[in-house]
Order: sequence, then C-alpha cells, then structure tokens
Amino acid sequence: MRKQVAAANWKMNLTYQQAEQLITDIINTPHTLAAHQRAVFAVPFPYLTMVADKLKGKNGAAVSAQNCSSYKSGAYTGETSVEMLQSIHVEYVVLGHSERREYFHETSQLLTDKVNLALQFGLTPIFCCGEALSIREAGTQNEYVANQLKESLFHLSADDLQKIIIAYEPIWAIGTGKTATSEQAQEMHAHLRSALANQYGQEVADSISILYGGSVKGANAKEIFSQPDVDGGLVGGASLKADEFVQIIQGLK
Ligand code: 13P
Repeated sequence: MRKQVAAANWKMNLTYQQAEQLITDIINTPHTLAAHQRAVFAVPFPYLTMVADKLKGKNGAAVSAQNCSSYKSGAYTGETSVEMLQSIHVEYVVLGHSERREYFHETSQLLTDKVNLALQFGLTPIFCCGEALSIREAGTQNEYVANQLKESLFHLSADDLQKIIIAYEPIWAIGTGKTATSEQAQEMHAHLRSALANQYGQEVADSISILYGGSVKGANAKEIFSQPDVDGGLVGGASLKADEFVQIIQGLK
C-alpha cells in the first residue's frame, strides 16, 4: 500500500514554548500509526531540532522544513540550505506551497532547482500544487495543476520521482473553512495520477502518495482520506490543535 501521510504545516505560527507544548500534547494524546502510515510535522526552522528530539523513538513520525534555499551554499544571507537540513537529520521539505508561490514569487523553475537540491541531499520533497478560485471557475483546473507537476517534476527520473510526495491544495480551500468535497479531491487526485502514469507508467504513478490540503479537520479527514487516490492530508489550521491533529492522523487509511 502507498504511504498514507498526515502532514502538519504549522506555517509561521507559535512561539517556541507553544510549539513545545503542542508537540508534547500530540505525543501524549493516544494514537497509533500503522507501518504504512506517517505523521510529518512541518515546523518553523528554529523548532526543527526541538520537535525532532521530542519525536525520537516514535515510529512513523518525522519533522519537515517548510522551505529551503534554491542555492546550495554560500553568500545568501537569511537562506537555509538543504545541506543544513540534512545535517540536522530533517527528512522532508515542503516545496511550492501556494503561499510561497504567491507572496514570495516562487516560480516553477525555482521549484525545479529546490526539488533537485532536496533529492541530491536525500530529503523527501512534499511538492504542493493547486489552483486559484478563478481557475476552478473557468473549469481549467485539471490542466493547470497537471502543468504545475510537469513544469517542476517531469524532468526527474522515475526513481527520483518516486521519492516525492505530492500535495494538492486548492487555494480557495486554504484557511477558508471551505473544503473541496471528497469527490472534487478524488477527481483531481485521479487526474494527477493519470498524468503521472502517462509520463512514467502506471506502476510508478501508483506508488506516489498524493495528499489533499485545504481546511482538513478532525471531522472531515476520514471521509476525504477514504477516497481511493487520496493518501492523507497536508493540514494548516487544524494541525495547531493537538486533539484535532490526532483525530486527523487516526483518519488515515
Ligand atoms: P488549512 O488547513 O489551514 O486550510 O491550510 C492548508 C494548508 O495550506 C496546508 O499547507
């Protein structure tokens, strides 16, 4: 079975003390992860080692960065390289979140560079894609989102592509409380999987986890994750509450 992943994206929230409390509360809320399930915590850079230390020995749980530099190393003040992340044993990095595409002008080419660097240093990219409301209203979302994958990922070998997790996050559903219906999520995920199959073959496409993101919460996670092509979620707001996030983890297939 494909890996099923509940990924928390804390974004730019919480003080160090609040973050410490939250991860402690999550650990202390009874839950189990099966061998094919993962709980990933994309936390602000300054909290990566603290959260990783707390998760030590917890099977299936790992930390993720929320971004990395597109440069390898050098005179890039304020940037964080994938090599730095690797050196503190970070396993995942979220790339191409719509907030980064929109507010920090990240382009497909820049994301290609970040994806390449992440893979070179052994990190798993959680590659985000998703359309704005205007694109959904125009009915061109399938082509638009498949194109995001094509532009930043389709240069990869099949071996490298299989190291990636994809997160489909319709922008109109992020932080709005307006979740895509499970049918809308399934339709897009199936479309993306068929785009992957066209390029890399069905077997490769079937091995890639595609997460849904956008107003996932405890009450709707199980229903959304039950769709055949939805392999878990990337969760913002609800990941900041221990009981909600644990309920989301328990909603994984
Ligand atoms: P919300 O869960 O707050 O809608 O955010 C989704 C998201 O952007 C996760 O990366």
